[in-house]
Amino acid sequence: MKLVLSHIRKDYNGKPVLKDCSYAFKGSGTYVLMGPNGCGKSTLLRICSLLEAPDGGGLVFQDDGTPLIRDLALRRRITLVLPRTGVFNTTAFHNAAYGLKVRGMGGNLLKKEVDRALDIVGLAHKSGQNARTLSSGETQRLGIARALAIGPEILFLDEPTASVDEENTAIIESIIGNLKKDGRTMVIMTTHDTDQAERLADTLLLMKEGSIADRKH
Ligand SMILES: Nc1ncnc2c1ncn2[C@@H]1O[C@H](COP(=O)(O)OP(=O)(O)OP(=O)(O)O)[C@@H](O)[C@H]1O
Ligand SMILES: [Mg+2]
Repeated sequence: MKLVLSHIRKDYNGKPVLKDCSYAFKGSGTYVLMGPNGCGKSTLLRICSLLEAPDGGGLVFQDDGTPLIRDLALRRRITLVLPRTGVFNTTAFHNAAYGLKVRGMGGNLLKKEVDRALDIVGLAHKSGQNARTLSSGETQRLGIARALAIGPEILFLDEPTASVDEENTAIIESIIGNLKKDGRTMVIMTTHDTDQAERLADTLLLMKEGSIADRKH
C-alpha cells in the first residue's frame, strides 16, 4: 500500500508547523524521518496515521494506483506506535492482544497471533507478567508487539528507541530490519540517532522548514 502526501499544511494556534509536505511513500522498505526538536515529525506521523487531520493539502492511500476510501478497513491496515507506550494493568499477553480483541478475534487464533507478535519482539517469556512491571525497553517492545499483532501494512514508529538502552535498541532495530526482510510492512519512523538512521533507512528524509527533503535512496 502506497501513501502519497500532497502539500500537507498544519498550524497550531496560528503558527505554521507543516508548511508544504509532499512525498510519496512507495509501499515497502524503511523510511527514516529526521529533524530538530519541534520541527513537526510527530505531527506528520499523527496526520499520516489518520489520528489528526491536516489544515491544508491531503493524503491518499493507494493499492495498485487505486485510491482507498478512508474507512475502518483502511485504519486497520496502518498503526502508530508512540515513544512512550501506555499499558493496561494486565498481562503482557492481554496488552498485546488488545488490537485483535477489539477487532473481534478470540480463542486459539488470538493466542497464536499474540504469541507470534510477542515472539517477534522477544517477550514470549514475559507473556504472563503484568505489563506495568516491565522495564521501559520491554514496554516499548510490547507497544511494537501490540502494533504487529494486527499485521499492519504500514507501521509508523515515533522515536521507537527514545530512552531505551543499547541492548533493547539493538533488539528494536533488528525487529525493524526483519520487517524489511519480510517485505509485508512498510516502516515510517523518526529518530534523533544519526547512526541508527544510517543503519535502518532505505530512504532518509529530512524535515526542514515545514517540508520534507529526500536525502538518500
Ligand atoms: N496539539 C498541539 N497543540 C499545539 N501545539 C502543538 C500540538 N502538537 C504539536 N504542537 C507544536 O508543533 C510543533 C511540532 O511538534 P512535533 O511534536 O511534531 O515536533 P517533533 O519534530 O516531533 O519534535 P521532537 O523531535 O521533539 O519529538 C511544536 O512546536 C509543538 O509544540
Ligand atoms: Mg516528536
